[in-house]
Formats: sequence, C-alpha cells, structure tokens
Amino acid sequence: MKTVTRVAEMQLAAAGAGGMGRRIGFVPTMGALHEGHLSLVRAARQRTDLTVVSIFVNPAQFGPGEDYRGYPRDLGADSALLIREGVDIYPPGFQTSVSVEEFSEPLCGRFRPGHFRGVATVVLKLFNIVSPDAAFFGRKDAQQSILIQRLVRDLNLPVEVVVCPIVRESDGLAMSSRNAYLSAEERAAATVLHRSLERARELLLAGERRAGILIGEMRKLVEAEPGARVDYIEAVDAATLAPLALLSGRALLALAVWIGAARLIDNMFIEIGAEHVTLEL
Ligand code: PAJ
Repeated sequence: MKTVTRVAEMQLAAAGAGGMGRRIGFVPTMGALHEGHLSLVRAARQRTDLTVVSIFVNPAQFGPGEDYRGYPRDLGADSALLIREGVDIYPPGFQTSVSVEEFSEPLCGRFRPGHFRGVATVVLKLFNIVSPDAAFFGRKDAQQSILIQRLVRDLNLPVEVVVCPIVRESDGLAMSSRNAYLSAEERAAATVLHRSLERARELLLAGERRAGILIGEMRKLVEAEPGARVDYIEAVDAATLAPLALLSGRALLALAVWIGAARLIDNMFIEIGAEHVTLEL
C-alpha cells in the first residue's frame, strides 16, 4: 500500500498507472473506516487493477452547527498531516462549485442546505485528481449515489459509477462512522430505522402500495422509540427522487432520524414489476 498526501503526486501516480493500461478503481471516503467502506474497497479490487481510497473529511459538505469538528478521525498522528494537506484540496481563494440542482433539494437536501453541493464539488475534484475508471459508492447514501450518477452523466465524466449494497451490523443497523456517537441505550434504539423498513417490507409484500400508509406505519414505530426524532421518511422515484404517492417501478423508501447526537439514514430499494416485487434492504 502506498500513502499519497499530495494532489500532484496522486495525479502523477494515476497518469503512470493509466499509461500502463491499469484500470483505476476509486473509493472516496471521509475516513473512520468500517466494513461498509471496506466492502467498496473489495468491490473495487475485484473489478479494477489499482484501488485508490481517499480519506478527506470534506468541510464543504458540513453545514454550520453540524459535526465537522466532532466527525470521527482515527488516523492518529497522520490526521494532523492530512488535515494540513486538506489545504491542498481547497486552495486559497477557492470559489468554484458544482451543484446537481434538483437532486440536491429533496430528502437530506432539505435538512442539509449546501451539503450536496459540497459532495458533488469534492467528488468532481477527487475524480480530477485520481482519474478513476470506476468509482464505488454505497447505497447507504442513496441520494448521494444517485446524484453522483447524474453528475457523471451531465458532465460526460469518463467514470463508471458502481453502487454497492448496504453493509449492516448483525441487528440490522446500517454501518456508519456516526454510529460511534451513540451511547449503549441509543445504539439499541438506533435499530428502529431498520425495523421500520422491515415493517414497510412486510406491508409491501402483503400488497400495500400507498406511500402514505407505509410512511405512517414507519413513523409510528420510529416515534415510539424514546429519543428518536424524525427528519423525514419519504417514498421517492429511484431515478429522479420525485416523491411518490403510490409505489411503482423503481422506488426508494428513505428515512433520516436523529438518535441523540447522531443523524442516521437508511433506505430500502424497491422494484415493483408486473409479476414480482424486489426489495433490497
Ligand atoms: P463516507 O460517509 O465516509 O462514505 C464513503 C462511502 O462509503 C460512501 O459511498 C458511502 O455510501 C459508503 N458507505 C458508508 N456506509 C456504508 C454501509 N453501511 N454500507 C455500504 N456503503 C457504505 O460518503 C461520504 O463519505 C462522502 O460524502 C464522500 C463521498 C467521501 C465525499 O466527501
């Protein structure tokens, strides 16, 4: 493994690898790595010749009052170095950004203004630095992965976007760097996101298609959990993120819930065909 801390050094290494015909797989992260991140690394290693993982806690995607300062950084002595190198990522006077306009507005976008502009901008910058052939994202952050796919299409970026399944703890909680914020009690309560999706799954399998009913049932479960506060529970079209009243085609049932100091997200991908229903939790 090679650690690169300079943008120019990364660009040189990428050009060298590309020149030798090696396909570059890219996994952008904010560190505090867990099995979810590692699943993307494994997917990248399987499908490409050289895997690049970036660790950068991107200030531009945190709003004022969000957890940028407290975000877990466990690179120990290296973190100071990397944070300093972060200056490289946003040179003084930086003022250019990209925004995937409509995809940034619903779901998490409503509660985190500017977040997806920060994500899209840093991912585009990282693509320019790493020159990946393929980039790997987790469906845990479904809106993010859909938005990045749109960014790639809209700007003709020569990158294949691969979206990988959600990796969960044994009790169903989606792995997240932010799970570290949970006390033991909150950790138990946090399974309610997954439990509410399982409840929706039962209803969907029994034939229920009305978003209002599914969301109402999920909300009841979540709100019964002391200390849980719902940001949103929504059913949207999986391609456009437009809200759905009736579930059909490819849809996403997504939620964001505060448990103590942790804002947790989760979702289920739903595909409703004429003869079958596919549910991916
Ligand atoms: P971060 O939260 O560190 O996540 C990095 C990648 O890991 C994302 O693609 C995310 O969807 C994926 N991931 C996280 N938890 C996962 C889980 N339980 N199962 C599967 N995949 C999981 O997402 C970001 O960082 C940033 O926004 C970033 C894209 C790096 C831009 O700054």
